[in-house]
This record gives sequence, structure tokens and C-alpha cells, in this order.
Amino acid sequence: AIDIKTLRAATGIITLDPGFKNTGSCESAITFLDGEKGVLRYRGYSIEELAEKADFLEVAYLLIFGELPNKEELEKFHKDIKAESHVDEEMKKILDGFPKSAHPMGVISSLTSALIAFNPSSVNVSSKEDMYHAIVRLLAKFPVLVAWTHRKKMGLPLDYGDDSLGYVENIHKMMFKRPNQEYKRNEVVIEALDKLLILHADHEQNCSTSTVRIVGSSHAGLFASISAGISALWGPLHGGANQAVLEMLQAIEADGGDTKRYMAKAKDKKDPFRLMGFGHRVYKNFDPRARIIKKAADEVLSDLGIEDPILDIAKGLEKEALEDDYFVKRKLYPNVDFYSGIIYRALGIPVEMFTVMFALGRLPGWIAQWREMRLKGEPIGRPRQVYIGENQRPFKALDKR
Ligand code: ACO
Repeated sequence: AIDIKTLRAATGIITLDPGFKNTGSCESAITFLDGEKGVLRYRGYSIEELAEKADFLEVAYLLIFGELPNKEELEKFHKDIKAESHVDEEMKKILDGFPKSAHPMGVISSLTSALIAFNPSSVNVSSKEDMYHAIVRLLAKFPVLVAWTHRKKMGLPLDYGDDSLGYVENIHKMMFKRPNQEYKRNEVVIEALDKLLILHADHEQNCSTSTVRIVGSSHAGLFASISAGISALWGPLHGGANQAVLEMLQAIEADGGDTKRYMAKAKDKKDPFRLMGFGHRVYKNFDPRARIIKKAADEVLSDLGIEDPILDIAKGLEKEALEDDYFVKRKLYPNVDFYSGIIYRALGIPVEMFTVMFALGRLPGWIAQWREMRLKGEPIGRPRQVYIGENQRPFKALDKR
């Protein structure tokens, strides 16, 4: 038997797989995904059961450390997070420097990077304990940054957290508490937020997670790796799709609600328009998260007494796509982003914040993947290429070009 290193050295053979459609980048014990059957499990637990029975902090612990926490473990985890929730006042000056019009994904990625300056000991982690501290710090401070980013966008003064509240409830308070008003707990909203965050918490080696692992593989540090992951998530073909979906639904509504015309546009190969929120690199049957979110969207809207014509347009598009040859043949089904924006909108979250909410949910998954990669001592990620440029040629002086 000849190992791959020797084979490569002897033959110069490398595999070429643009978009890594067929390439496994690592071994991982975190998330199982069967795209054909529409199965998603975190550490062996089905996404349906977790969304129904667990809360987001338990799921974060499960993803990162591999087991569901018992009561004491969960309490300690939460206590450690609460002890780290202070964000340096100087960070507010950085936030102030952004115009109100700045896209929240750019703001949150910059603030996450800026956190490194105020927490330098989180960079060089050489033991499990160091890792734990860096992880807890980020889980504590990231929601504060998300809330700040949201309040800046809404023109609201910053609000502080409350240690007596649960993790998600505290996020809700930091984001939504109105100045000079008591914070009011809303069970429906908190449950919906919890569910949304759980459904987004991990999804194996997608674009942003692969980014986190590859940046982390250079030992750049957790916060820098996550900041890079946030940038990867921003794109409309990935996490940015939730913003793009809502903007598309709004455009269809403003245009008279003719879903058939937009279906035709999506199928027209000369038109770059795609039906946002449809299709997935891995799910070729259905996205199990979309099913849960669709139900949650119905519940939240009915509990809050909201009638949203956008939801009707979304349902109409889904129905038409499921009966359309083009979509059926290409196995294009609604993905997680198709319905999440409708819930965010019902909660009063501005469209540009949607992908930030996705990042908030994905944080534990990114952390778990980063930790797994570092604990396994994976080598630096460094793909090869097939060179197709000019052959060797002599230099041409400036006056000869
Ligand atoms: N609308 C119309 N046609 C589509 C769509 C769509 N949303 N998605 C794919 N297709 C078509 C393509 O044009 C292509 O057609 P062809 O075979 O005739 O050329 C075929 O379906 C396959 O599409 P690919 O782009 O090759 O599939 P890929 O796996 O590379 O892309 C992706 C997956 C990026 C999700 C794609 O389906 C897409 O752009 N969807 C819309 C954006 C979106 O919703 N992204 C969120 C993904 S989920 C997430 O990141 C959380």
C-alpha cells in the first residue's frame, strides 16, 4: 500500500474539485447530515427533538462538548458565561465610529475582531482550560455585540444585560428593551428565538464553518476565526439568503404579488434571478429545518396576532415550486432561510439584521468545529490548485509594453 503523501510526491497528482462538491475536508463527530433523506442530527440527537425539548444554551453545550449537560454542568456553564458578559467601554467608541447605515454584518464582524484587542489572552490557547475560557468569553460577549449592533440600527440607546435572566431571554432584553420602560418577558417570542437559534446552530462543513476551521488551522485564534466566519456567512448564497428572501418577497408583494412571473424569471437561464431560499448544496429532498421553521412562523404570527401578506406569498411560491418540473427535477426545496425572515420580521428585527441573527445561532457550531479542529491537531488548511496561467516568459521592460 502506498500512502497519499508518497503518491502525490511521486506522481504530482492532485484532485480538482471546485466548490469542494465532493471533497471531505475533515473527520468530524459534531453534526450528521443526510441530504437525500433530509436528516439533521447534532451529536446524534435529531434536530426535531432538540428544537422541541432543549434550549439554546443546552444545545450550545452539546455541540461544543459532545454531551447534553446535566443540571450542575449547565448551571456552571451559564454562571461562567455570565461572569464574562462585560464588554469593554472602549468598544463603544468603535461602534460609534460606524455610520447608522453600515451593514450590521460588517459591524458585527469588525466588533468581533476588535474584541481580540481587549482579550489578548484568548488568542494563544494551548490547553483545554484556555480554550474553555476563550469559548465562554465569546459566548458571553457576542450577544452583547449583537444587541449593540441592533440598537444602533434602530437608533436606540445601548442597554445592559440582566444576570437573573436566561441566556436567550437576556438577549431578547438587550435587543428589545425600550428606554424608560420595564422589560416585559414574552414567552412566545423567547421560545421562537430559542428555536431559531437551535435550528441554525450547526450544519457541518458549510462555507462559513469551513472558513472558521481553515482560519483557525493557522492558529489565528478563536475570535479572529469567528470574525472570518461571519464574513463568509454574509454572502447571499449562504447566510445572507435570509435577508435576500425577505427582500424578494417584499419586491413580489410591491409588484402586485404575481408569484408565477417570478417563478418564470427563476427558471429563465438568461435571467440571473434565483428564487432565494430555494435549493441547498446538500439537501436534495427537503431541509428538515425549513419544516420546523414554517410551523414556528405560523405559530408566532398567530400568537402575536399578525397577518402578514408576505407569509401568503411565501406559501404560494413554495406550493408552485413543489409542483413545477424545473424545481422538482433539480430537487430545489425551501431551505432554512425561506421562512426564518418572516419570524424575524414579526419580532420587529430589521431585515439587515437577519444574517446577524443567523450568526448568533451559528456561534456554538463554529466554536465546536474550531475546538474539534484544534484538539485533533489538524494541519494548516492549504489546498493546491491546477495552474492554467502563462508559461515561463521573459520580463518586458515598461517602455516595451
Ligand atoms: N432558483 C432557481 N434555480 C436554481 C436555484 C434557485 N434558487 N438554485 C439552484 N438552481 C438551479 C441552477 O441554476 C442549476 O440549474 P442547471 O442545472 O440548469 O444549471 C441547478 O439548479 C443546480 O444549482 P447549483 O447552483 O449548481 O447548485 P449548488 O449546490 O451549487 O448551489 C445554492 C446551492 C447556492 C444554495 C443554490 O441553490 C442557490 O443559489 N440558492 C438560492 C440562495 C439560497 O437560498 N442560499 C441559502 C442556502 S442555505 C444556507 O446557506 C443557510
